[in-house]
Amino acid sequence: MCGIFAYLNYNVHRERRYILELLFNGLRRLEYRGYDSAGISIDSDSVPSADLGRNFPANSMNPLVFRQEGKIDQLVRSVYEEVDETRLDLDQTFSVHTGIAHTRWATHGPPSPRNSHPQSSGEGNEFLVVHNGIVTNYVVLKETLVRHGFKFESETDTEVIPKLAKFVFDKLSEEGGRPTFSQVVLEVMRQLEGAYALIFKSPHYPNELVACKRGSPLLLGLKEFKENSDGGTPFNDVKFLTKTDNPKELFLSSDANALIEHTKQVLVIEDDEVVHLKDGGISILKFDSDNAKATGGLPRPASVQRALSILEMEVEQIKKGNYEHYMQKEIHEQPESLKTTMSGRLIQEGPGKVKGILLGGLKDYLKTIRRSRRIVFIGCGTSYNAALAARPFVEELSGVPVSMEIASDLLDRQGPIYREDTAVFVSQSGETADTLLALDYAKKNGALCVGITNTVGSALARNTHCGIHINAGAEIGVASTKAYTSQIVVMTMLALAVGDDSISSKSRREAIIDNLFDLPNKVREVLQLDDEMKDLAKLLMDEQSLLMFGRGYNYATALEGALKVKEVALMHSEGMLAGEMKHGPLALVDETLPIVVIATRDACFSKQQSVIQQLHARKGRLIVMCTKGDASVVCPGGSCRAIEVPAVEDCLQPVINIIPLQLLAYHLTVLRGFDVDQPRNLAKSVTTQ
Ligand code: AGP
Repeated sequence: MCGIFAYLNYNVHRERRYILELLFNGLRRLEYRGYDSAGISIDSDSVPSADLGRNFPANSMNPLVFRQEGKIDQLVRSVYEEVDETRLDLDQTFSVHTGIAHTRWATHGPPSPRNSHPQSSGEGNEFLVVHNGIVTNYVVLKETLVRHGFKFESETDTEVIPKLAKFVFDKLSEEGGRPTFSQVVLEVMRQLEGAYALIFKSPHYPNELVACKRGSPLLLGLKEFKENSDGGTPFNDVKFLTKTDNPKELFLSSDANALIEHTKQVLVIEDDEVVHLKDGGISILKFDSDNAKATGGLPRPASVQRALSILEMEVEQIKKGNYEHYMQKEIHEQPESLKTTMSGRLIQEGPGKVKGILLGGLKDYLKTIRRSRRIVFIGCGTSYNAALAARPFVEELSGVPVSMEIASDLLDRQGPIYREDTAVFVSQSGETADTLLALDYAKKNGALCVGITNTVGSALARNTHCGIHINAGAEIGVASTKAYTSQIVVMTMLALAVGDDSISSKSRREAIIDNLFDLPNKVREVLQLDDEMKDLAKLLMDEQSLLMFGRGYNYATALEGALKVKEVALMHSEGMLAGEMKHGPLALVDETLPIVVIATRDACFSKQQSVIQQLHARKGRLIVMCTKGDASVVCPGGSCRAIEVPAVEDCLQPVINIIPLQLLAYHLTVLRGFDVDQPRNLAKSVTTQ
């Protein structure tokens, strides 16, 4: 979790006010990654104290550290209050300056200023660090550092990092020679275990930043200007990282959302890379853990040449536009996101004539997938639910048995994964720790690993053998909505691509491909239920609990609908397999508990009708989702409330059916007065186990 961000301006004059606002804005873009506390560090206008007994470079300034519990706006308020009190000059201009920033999702220690980042080496803030991830050996490191006289102030695992950096710096300095900033960081990395992306700032290295990563994501953004002026024309064609004196702005960020409004030229930093920003240059060193262990001394890093890539996203994607909330925007943009997901992948020969499916990232692996002994879908939360929705169709078309694994459970059980398996990993963010660990596990067991993700360049995208990007566009609301529907569509296309195109399945395949073409229209149609769902939310807003029953293709819809309601509306809600109703849940039924039954037309329709009757017989308070025109069939004589949705092929019906439930969850949240986009205790990507 957590978001880290840094800004370095080089030969570009920027006022302190501008730098502060840029850091705050970076944090706002990353806030969805964690939002219980935040902090920043910038330079002050005082030089480091001589009391520290250190030789700081002549141009070094004392770093200022601001940390606050709560959301970014609370940090912003507290920073400006402090600035007022201390009369810090906001108009002071810097031609070179480094600032770092952090937004937190607490793992070690509750949200509080002292547990917020930047974490410090101690008095004088000789080393400051912002961290996304977890240091697993922090207890041992802390004990060692305490023995060397370090005093800890926070409960975080992160605090060992700046203290270790100071320890290393002091030691190397005493041994003669002044280490470079990247040497210090490389030595720190050698001792750290766990997953992390880190950015270091230090008055020992004024106007330099060092960043490194292992496991957690980190991007570098570059904006280089043609003229030596304050914000001249930016170069849009820089391809390689070469050292120039051109004015430039450099950004480091956990994800692209905080970069896109500044630059599209980015570098996805790889694991074990150390990026050193200094004097207008960007050097990248590769940490070689084997080499470091073998020599037992200072790591000998190799320098790495990297080309920049161009971000394929637009600023509009990260803005709310005319919507009140990101979740609302993302629900309503599903006709477009689904279109983008399918774009270039559905091949039609002519009207009504279907040619097939083109999945570039999979084409060399389709034979292997067809021959697998088993397809195993692996994911967490909504991504797991999407795979569950696609499972019946993948089984039907591929003929390969499909099993389902929640990533954490697979790891807990060390469940069997074989060389003959195809393991399909589904993750919106591509950085979910459980999913990535399950990927490592499946790889070690020799399975073919396929990734399905929304995030280009994510760990999942990079570490799987092959895969498909869902191309749903940036999803910022913590509750996943448009990614879910795009994931189902991608897995449907996967089934079509893997499945044989025998005569017997031809008409089924063609009907589905036709439906895929028309799906955005059907989604537009179902979105018209918005007001109806708002009315329903008004009716349900004071309830304590809500059950959802589904089966077949729509068991996943029940799970996902309930997940949405509990996640954002903070209302207890359970999705259940309707076939299991009689085996326990029926005991809960009375005339007060609201129950949503999903009973659209498919092979399970008649079974769902008897479920409805059994619930009626116990005076259940029913809301039935049914196919357009079926209200009087499922709720004869107005015996319950019906939600009518447009009909599509059974395997695509979950895409349609989830939308009223997403709308219901959204309206319930607004009516109950909770935070829609940043639900209590959650964060967008779960990068810790
Ligand atoms: C979705 O609404 C949830 N926030 C959550 O269940 C999420 O789907 C889960 O954490 C998995 O995330 P991923 O898709 O990024 O791997």
